[in-house]
Amino acid sequence: MKTSRSPVLMALFSQLIALTVIALLVSISPWLTIFEWALLQGILAAFISYFLKMDIWWVPIQLCFLPALITTLALGFPPLWFGIGFCMLVLVYGKTYQTQVPLYLSSHAVTQALSTYLPQKKNFSFIDLGCGCGGLLSLLSKTKANGTFHGIEAALLPYFIGKIKNLLAKADCNIQWGDLWQQNLSRYDIVYAYLSPAPMKILWKKICSEMRPGSVFISNTFIIPDIAPDDCIKLDDFSGSTLYIWRIRSDSDTSVTKIQNPVIPEKV
Ligand SMILES: C[S@@+](CC[C@H](N)C(=O)[O-])C[C@H]1O[C@@H](n2cnc3c(N)ncnc32)[C@H](O)[C@@H]1O
Repeated sequence: MKTSRSPVLMALFSQLIALTVIALLVSISPWLTIFEWALLQGILAAFISYFLKMDIWWVPIQLCFLPALITTLALGFPPLWFGIGFCMLVLVYGKTYQTQVPLYLSSHAVTQALSTYLPQKKNFSFIDLGCGCGGLLSLLSKTKANGTFHGIEAALLPYFIGKIKNLLAKADCNIQWGDLWQQNLSRYDIVYAYLSPAPMKILWKKICSEMRPGSVFISNTFIIPDIAPDDCIKLDDFSGSTLYIWRIRSDSDTSVTKIQNPVIPEKV
C-alpha cells in the first residue's frame, strides 16, 4: 500500500528543517551543549510536524527522537549492539514505511472470541492477512479441527518465527511469506485482518472484488471508513479490542456508502 504523503518522509523532512535552523543557531550561540542542541531540535521538529498536520503521535516521537539518540550514544554501548538492534528492527518493521502497518499481536481474548464465532462443525477456510508470528493461527488450528488455516506475512523475522513455532507445536497452518495485496481472497470463507487505519479503505475494495457472497471479513480494531459492520464483538482485553464483522453479499459495494440498518448475522 503506498500513500501519497509518506509519514516517515514527512518526519524526516521536519527533522531536516529543524536541523538547518538549529545549525544556524548553534553557529551564533556556540555555548549550547550537544544535549541542549538536541532538545531544541526536538522541540522545533515537533512543532513542524504539528503544523504539517501529521498524526498527533508523531509530535512526541519527533520531540524525543534526537535527545534519545544523544542519550543512548552517551551510554557508550558497543557499536555491534546498535548493528544487531538495527538489523532486528529492519527484519520486523522494515516494510512499515510502505505498509503503515507495524507488528502488534492479537490478544488471547481475540483468539477465544474467534474460536467461539467460527463454525463449530462445518468445514471452513480462514486466512489471517499479515499473520505476524502466526500465534493466532496456531492457537485456532488447535481448537478448530474443522478449519484450514492460512497466513501471509511480509516481514521476514515474524514469518520465520511463525514457521518454526508451527513446526514445534505441530500446528496445521500454512504460513506464507509475501504481500497480502497479491493474495486472492476468493479461496477463503473467513478473512481476518488486524492491520491499521491506513489500508482499510483500499482493503474493502479488494474484499468486494474478490470475496465470495456468504463469506465473512473480520477486522480487529480498525473499521472500514463509512461502511457499517454487520456485527461487532467488544472485548475486555488490555487494548479494548473490538472485532468488526462484515458478511459479504452479492451486492457488496466498493463505494463508500453508509449501511443504515446493518443485518446482524447468525454465527457463520
Ligand atoms: C498488527 S500485526 C497483526 C499480527 C497478527 N495478525 C495478529 O493478529 O496477531 C500486522 C502484521 O501485518 C503485516 N503486514 C502489513 N502489511 C502487509 C502486507 N502488505 N503483506 C503481508 N503482511 C503485511 C505486518 O508485518 C504485521 O506483522
